[in-house]
Amino acid sequence: MARLSPFLALLAFVGITVGSPVVKKRGTNPTEPDPDFAVNVKLNGITYTNKGLVAFGLIPSDFKDSTGDTLGGIGSAIALSSFTSNGDGTFNGSIVAQPDRGFNIDGTINYQGRQHTIDFVLTPYYGDDPLSFTDAQQTLQLEYKSTLLYTERGGVQTSGLDATSLRASTSGFPSNALADPPLPVPSGLNHLTLDSEGLVLNSDGSFWLSDEYGPYIYRFDSSGDLIQAIQPPAAILPEDANGNLEFTSEDDPTTGRASNQGFECLTIDSTGKTLYAMLQSAPIQDGGNKKSNSRFTRLVAFDISNPSVVRPSLVGEWIVPLPLSDKGNTLAASEIHFVHENVFLVLARDGDGHGGDDNQSKYKQADLIDISKATNIANTKFDQPANPVAPKGKLDKSVTAATYQSFVDFIDDDQLARFGLHNGDPADQTLIDAKWESLALAPVGDPSFPNDFFLFTAADNDFITTNGVSLGQPYNAGLDNDNQFLVFRVTLPSS
Ligand SMILES: *[C@@H]1O[C@H](CO)[C@@H](O)[C@H](O)[C@H]1NC(C)=O
Ligand SMILES: *[C@@H]1O[C@H](CO)[C@@H](O)[C@H](O)[C@H]1NC(C)=O
Repeated sequence: MARLSPFLALLAFVGITVGSPVVKKRGTNPTEPDPDFAVNVKLNGITYTNKGLVAFGLIPSDFKDSTGDTLGGIGSAIALSSFTSNGDGTFNGSIVAQPDRGFNIDGTINYQGRQHTIDFVLTPYYGDDPLSFTDAQQTLQLEYKSTLLYTERGGVQTSGLDATSLRASTSGFPSNALADPPLPVPSGLNHLTLDSEGLVLNSDGSFWLSDEYGPYIYRFDSSGDLIQAIQPPAAILPEDANGNLEFTSEDDPTTGRASNQGFECLTIDSTGKTLYAMLQSAPIQDGGNKKSNSRFTRLVAFDISNPSVVRPSLVGEWIVPLPLSDKGNTLAASEIHFVHENVFLVLARDGDGHGGDDNQSKYKQADLIDISKATNIANTKFDQPANPVAPKGKLDKSVTAATYQSFVDFIDDDQLARFGLHNGDPADQTLIDAKWESLALAPVGDPSFPNDFFLFTAADNDFITTNGVSLGQPYNAGLDNDNQFLVFRVTLPSS
């Protein structure tokens, strides 16, 4: 059932019965979203609109990349490297997708970090009638093109193995002016290890990625070689009781980011001068060791306006209050995306859906946050682990958190059904994936709606396939969980 238009809803509210509403025939191939799909929300006086789901696509779970490994985990991060209107209502473009640390259900592996280029043709579907699951895949046709493998200084391949050790601070990269911070490496293997989660492409071909182990932000050049590492403030670094760095993802540290709750989220402002990273949930000292206490996560901002500055300074740090499940547990954040000054999209979700814990998802959303009224705690006492900002999940009274507004619901049954998808039983190929972890925006270019954007998102399928290859060895994960992509159309005004 489509939602009542605001006009009909108003009539219903004041008790006026409409005998037979005039049904406006939209035809089989309308060129604009059905106004009845629109969901409006307000944040700081601005109205944002979700106009509904407009495309769906997938890459099969057993697809292999050019190295012969299973192509998986690609929804950990996406960015658009090109996007063009074809002038006929369709769009061509390229997605750069970055997997995390390979098939690691039976333990972490020596998976070299990488990114894939995937070309697409987007043919937005604005009709009300449900498409079949097969026809729906014509709305976002995806074609794998190539893979770029990551190396560090001197061409050494990066790893994905657990960061059970560290490499002491070294100088010489990228200049002798300042030493590198200590970097996470596996025991007995002096290779930088990455659990990559966020991705930002720069105009010079270099790119930033955020990782879970550090949690650090790294810059790589266009050939995939490491050139820079940004270390966050001490309050975010994983430290033991003696203040020593402890990068492993197996156990929680005493303070700093919880295990596997690192920098899932990375974005850049429209001027390219400020880089933002956000933790998946609160650091340990702020309640991060318990799902019922971990909602007050941290968003940090670094000034990257001068590319020759080796250690970009921390210029902002804010508390973001993540949503809670029915049971009072934090719905952790998997991605962030800059919208306009002080406003961001945040992807928060549960772990249910295809490949997840349960078939029925209860929360998967791209929500909005506004930091204009939030307290900037950068370079204050809260950057020291001894001074929690939210002990046991209670926010310090001196601090105002960001404003959080619910926005785009990925599991709206009516919208999913238009693309042959569903939420809940049965667990088949048409069940929505569990782990959506990426966001990208592209302007629609519709003169009637200048603030309209396509919002792309992709799922991390955890490399789950019955026909997999990992580091040259075949594996069977017992389930085929495709790499799913969704595209929504949203209105994001700046005032
Ligand atoms: C868009 O991409 C498709 C598939 O690669 C290609 O066939 C088509 O020619 C492209 N369209 C334009 C206008 O470049
Ligand atoms: C999910 O659905 C399948 C049937 O498609 C069922 O076998 C399985 O038990 C369900 N999982 C849960 C956790 O309910």
